[in-house]
Amino acid sequence: MLSKDAMNKKIIDRVFELSIRAKESVEKYGQEKVINATIGSLYGEDNKLVVYDVVTETYYAQEPADFAAYAASLTGSDEFKESVKVSTFGENYKEDFKGHYLEVIATPGGTGALSNTIKNYLNNGETVLIPEWLWEPYKSIISDNQKTFDSYKVFDENGNFNLNDVEKKLNEVAAKQETIMILINDPCQNPTGYKLTREEWEKLFEIFEEIAKTKEIVLINDIAYIDYDPGINKEEYMEIFKNRPKNILTVFTFSISKSLTSYGLRVGAQIALTRDETIARDFNEVCSFSCRSTWSNVSKGGMKMYSDIVLNKEKYKRLKEEREKYVNLLKERADIFLKEAKEIGLEILPYKSGFFLSIPTYELTEKVGYILADENIFTVIAEKWVRIALCSVPKAKVWGLAGKVKEAVDRAKEIGTKELERDGGNVECEGCC
Ligand SMILES: Cc1ncc(COP(=O)(O)O)c(C=O)c1O
Repeated sequence: MLSKDAMNKKIIDRVFELSIRAKESVEKYGQEKVINATIGSLYGEDNKLVVYDVVTETYYAQEPADFAAYAASLTGSDEFKESVKVSTFGENYKEDFKGHYLEVIATPGGTGALSNTIKNYLNNGETVLIPEWLWEPYKSIISDNQKTFDSYKVFDENGNFNLNDVEKKLNEVAAKQETIMILINDPCQNPTGYKLTREEWEKLFEIFEEIAKTKEIVLINDIAYIDYDPGINKEEYMEIFKNRPKNILTVFTFSISKSLTSYGLRVGAQIALTRDETIARDFNEVCSFSCRSTWSNVSKGGMKMYSDIVLNKEKYKRLKEEREKYVNLLKERADIFLKEAKEIGLEILPYKSGFFLSIPTYELTEKVGYILADENIFTVIAEKWVRIALCSVPKAKVWGLAGKVKEAVDRAKEIGTKELERDGGNVECEGCC
């Protein structure tokens, strides 16, 4: 029945799958005996999902018609657009970005923003450059939009951003297509926790600007976790993207899933930054068309809640204060893991901030993941790394975790190519890898 193009669409979502198994283990062995480091939502030290008070209050203060009605516009209400600009570029964005166009299109989460951008800026079959260590759904978003992907190396041998490889890949893609699209997830990259330095960004733009002498560039910066980078000054950060050539379009993909821990409300946005009026107009026209024909419009109540918070000084302050506690908590959890990892010589990918850190395990990945699972430690088994979601593991369970991971890596190395004999059997592979 399926079309030929649809036949290979199969979701292999190891995050949710292993998280379900972790929950089963909690039921069987008790909360204290299980470490669930799979799920990418923020959990407190009490093992409960974090929900900010100001978010709950503001959402329920709305009139029932605000959750029930359609949004006033396909691309989001004016207040929502304004609040996205204020929260991303600062209150003075009009002054700071004079001579630029900032266009906002509301989407269902960051996922919708990524999809709507990838869909409209490349021809079918063309290549998007994505990071080697990545949030894996990028790949399905790309292929579901009939595009292909190639990966750039994120790190060089010194653990810095691999500008040489990025340049090489950009030139390879430039040799075969007119528009080059590159996806960067910064700051708090998922799954590594990397953040490019200002100098790395400047050098990256030098490369872009060279290529842009003959080609067009679409830079997608996935800023889903931007609010969890300790001490980030967004106004300063956004300077990087200012005053760039007209044929470099930056699209930020924004989401309230993490920023407000409102994952289920499905509110996000594409934010285009350009100095070219035609590019701005085209962005609005074409992306609105795609909104209309895919999800129509975004939750009115979710958008209203966001603008009611961000455009109200007192509420916005409260949000920042509440969030700050968890930014600090994430840092404390990371510090414990990083310190122990260093002491015992566990290699981890360069981490600066954010929800996740990862251990490069290459061909041993599955073995490491399942050895840990037999110890009731559940991690995300990715392509060639094991991801630890610091966001969902309380500090008491982070202590000693690096040591357990190191033991699993050492054991996997000893086993080598031999089959893993599994003892606990609380997790069985059902083709998830
Ligand atoms: C790196 C990254 N980008 C984007 C998203 C999109 O999330 P949502 O669609 O809920 O906004 C996620 C969610 O986990 C993510 O990890």
